[in-house]
Amino acid sequence: MAAMALETAADARTVRPARRLRGELRVPGDKSVTHRALLFNALARGSARIEGFLDSEDTRATMACLRAMGARIDEPGGGVVVVHGAGRPGLHEPDDVLDCANSGTTMRLLSGVVAGLPMLAVLTGDASLRRRPMARIIGPLSALGAAVTGRANGTLPPIVIRGGSLCGGRTLEPPVASAQVKSAILLAALAADGPTRVVERAPTRDHTERMLGAMGAGIVVDGRAVTLTPPARDLAPVDVRVPGDISTAAAWIVAAALHPDAEVMLHNVGVNPSRTGLLDILEAMGARVERVEERMVGGEPVADLLVRSSSLRATEVSGDLVPRAIDELPLVALAGACADGTTVIREAEELRVKESDRVAATAAVLRAFGIAVEERPDGMVVHGGARLHGGRAASAGDHRLAMLGAVAGLVSGEESVIEGAGAVSVSYPDFWTDLSRLSLS
Ligand code: S3P
Repeated sequence: MAAMALETAADARTVRPARRLRGELRVPGDKSVTHRALLFNALARGSARIEGFLDSEDTRATMACLRAMGARIDEPGGGVVVVHGAGRPGLHEPDDVLDCANSGTTMRLLSGVVAGLPMLAVLTGDASLRRRPMARIIGPLSALGAAVTGRANGTLPPIVIRGGSLCGGRTLEPPVASAQVKSAILLAALAADGPTRVVERAPTRDHTERMLGAMGAGIVVDGRAVTLTPPARDLAPVDVRVPGDISTAAAWIVAAALHPDAEVMLHNVGVNPSRTGLLDILEAMGARVERVEERMVGGEPVADLLVRSSSLRATEVSGDLVPRAIDELPLVALAGACADGTTVIREAEELRVKESDRVAATAAVLRAFGIAVEERPDGMVVHGGARLHGGRAASAGDHRLAMLGAVAGLVSGEESVIEGAGAVSVSYPDFWTDLSRLSLS
């Protein structure tokens, strides 16, 4: 067995094609669930233990912002974090700007929290985050009565929020299907003087509804509508066992499905139906992915996934599938390249405003490996049947693109180089080590 990803020039990695992919892994904790466990418990009154939390740059950004607002968060080690909430009054105005780093989830969810607290806060982030659209939260939070604005006429970070008591009785219909927007509204709604209703265009991940409901917020879900009735007292703390992140497991799922000699077992992966679009897409493509022992862990469904080499046929992805697989679509495009036929991804314009423009950046990575791909304003068309040659691909500073390049390198014919490989630290700091463990030369 040999390490397949060698450290090369500053922040570049060499990936050798794997002769075989074999083994078992426990992928790191879910990023979305970790952010929520930290944020929501910081609003609660009492202590909560978070097990298997994701220790990464994004979740560290959330912890640092909460600490800057007075939250007490202990790290006893062993993947455990303990949040000691003192209720809403336990959080105070930060005395400096809040740095959300690369994390859209931190900025958008924290905005919802701040909007309901009597304080002024300025939220900023790195160059990528400062390019991402914020009108989508500034609009609804303003509608609830918070004073919110941002750079570029209220559209970009930094954003400035003067929070306080908010008005209930509103129904908000965000124009984009986004769990971050829905969650920002629900968090602000905790401080409103009556119920708030959010109606989604398409169903998005529902971790917020599940966790806030378990903490005593009045949550009623009716189709695409979620109504939150503010609780009479502070939220109750909730211990969380964070499931493995299906969005990071996705790299190994797709690698194993594409590689001609692969059998990989992934333990403890979150399979919340609002997140399993990738599994449905791969099933339609003919992939051999088996769910073993599906069970409930702390309010979220979890399973072990056994993935084997598969021969794939092309597919079309659009509509409700898009939000259910939003972070995995770059890997779906790679699967399409190795499938029989032409794969089309449509109605996925949201990809253009992620950590990078993931339509353009995915196309650039795929082309580096010799794949024919056409960009569309709302997605891409990928011509299948490609034999991938080795490539030199750039992450564009985007963690998901660094992992996409690595997977393409593993299943290609020659050595490849991934530039900007360190971007994986945003969601999966041990990615390169795990790659070495699974790939056999
Ligand atoms: C997330 C929601 C998604 C996703 C992001 C995490 C969340 O973003 O892309 O990685 O934790 O709520 P949108 O809600 O903006 O689609």
